[in-house]
Amino acid sequence: MSRTPRPKSPVTPAGAWTRRRLLRTGTAAAGLASLGVGLSRLARGDALAQSVAPGDLDKYREPEVRRSVDGVLATTLDAQPVAELGPNKMGYEGTIPGPTLRVAPGDVLRIDLVNNLGGPMTNLHLHGMHVSPEGNGDNVFVTVEPGESFAYEYAIPTNHRGGLNWYHPHHHGDAGAQVGAGLAGALVVEGPIDRLPGIAEAPERILIVQGPSAADGSLRFTVNGVVNPEIAIRPGETQRWRILNASANNPVNLLLDGYPFHLIATDGNPLPEPRTVDGPLLIAPAERYELLVQGGPPGFAALRSLPWGELGQAQPEIPIATVVSVGEPVAPRPLPTALLPLDRDLREVEPDRQRIVTFEEDFSSPPFFAIDGAGFDPDVVNVTAKLGTVEEWVVRNTSPEWHPFHIHVMDVQVISIDGVPQPPAYKDTVNLPPQGEVVLRIPFVDFPGKFVFHCHLLAHEDFGMMAVIEVVP
Ligand code: C2O
Ligand code: CU
Repeated sequence: MSRTPRPKSPVTPAGAWTRRRLLRTGTAAAGLASLGVGLSRLARGDALAQSVAPGDLDKYREPEVRRSVDGVLATTLDAQPVAELGPNKMGYEGTIPGPTLRVAPGDVLRIDLVNNLGGPMTNLHLHGMHVSPEGNGDNVFVTVEPGESFAYEYAIPTNHRGGLNWYHPHHHGDAGAQVGAGLAGALVVEGPIDRLPGIAEAPERILIVQGPSAADGSLRFTVNGVVNPEIAIRPGETQRWRILNASANNPVNLLLDGYPFHLIATDGNPLPEPRTVDGPLLIAPAERYELLVQGGPPGFAALRSLPWGELGQAQPEIPIATVVSVGEPVAPRPLPTALLPLDRDLREVEPDRQRIVTFEEDFSSPPFFAIDGAGFDPDVVNVTAKLGTVEEWVVRNTSPEWHPFHIHVMDVQVISIDGVPQPPAYKDTVNLPPQGEVVLRIPFVDFPGKFVFHCHLLAHEDFGMMAVIEVVP
């Protein structure tokens, strides 16, 4: 066997390699060896790996998967405290994150939500799903009292786009605390993108990022509930990562040195063609990015959130995971060059009407968070849209902070951000820059009913930055 060359340099900037950091990443090496992925070859001659002993870096793991059978997924989501993980932790089915639900277009999804939180009210939202907002569908006006349960049922359209969506509580006033406590899980819709060459063969990982919280005095995000897990990849291997930022209030500004991200989907919607991002990838709370990565030279690379934001939103560099390229190298497969065309490119559609929607805040006490001058009132319909129309929304942010705009039920096409035309893509969560303006087009082609749009910084939402829209026939 030939000796694997030592990586030329750690794939992390000098300075970030504190002694403790070395110990932790080195431990990744030790852990992987037990997986039989050939780390010993890497370790030989590798001072990094030799300097450490078996220890404390946890492995990447995924939540339990529950998938539909014969067109139906019927499951319980029991919302409960998870005391063993901390005094304020809450999860579905006792885990953080909750189980991953996997469905296909045309399936029926039945969820019995049980409120065993021991006090607060709750409910459930399927973020990113294009399903009815009425009755026991994706209806956030439902309240599930302590000790009660509610039977949700969702008919997933046969033309639903495939991708990563998620579920989380949405009871107004409690959403931030409950999502922040850990209540969230992935909801994967399978679809044609999964069968494209270059993607179909790629091992898939779901990365549910939550946090940050302080662990041993420093800030950490978790990935699938694990602090700084080691993620193994073989040199040259292509993996498909589905990343969800399920944090209540914090974006991640994601960078993995030496590993460009080849984006293939956003917010559960396939892109028409891959988009390669070298710099940091900003993922606002609730946004999802699916991407391909290819294993770099043997060694370690730190997946981390770079410093981001200003004023009250500023956050430092925060570690997320440690990627370990290890094992028998494989010849990199060609990346796909084309994905799935948009079913409808709304740039080519004349909108039936235009609206201006303004997100605003002031820092009085209590702070004022509003859309079009008003805080959330569940009994008021702020916007009435007509079924079958396409609207253009100019969403303005008059404040010095970012606000991730999110609308339920619908996917929107992002036309421009601060006047800069955007490549064609559908999304459901769009980060509004400070003092900025985003132009969206929304196809209200199906699903009449009442639902909401809001800021997905859940502290803002809970303080009223949410409005009601009703789609009428
Ligand atoms: Cu992810 Cu209205 O929410
Ligand atoms: Cu906001």
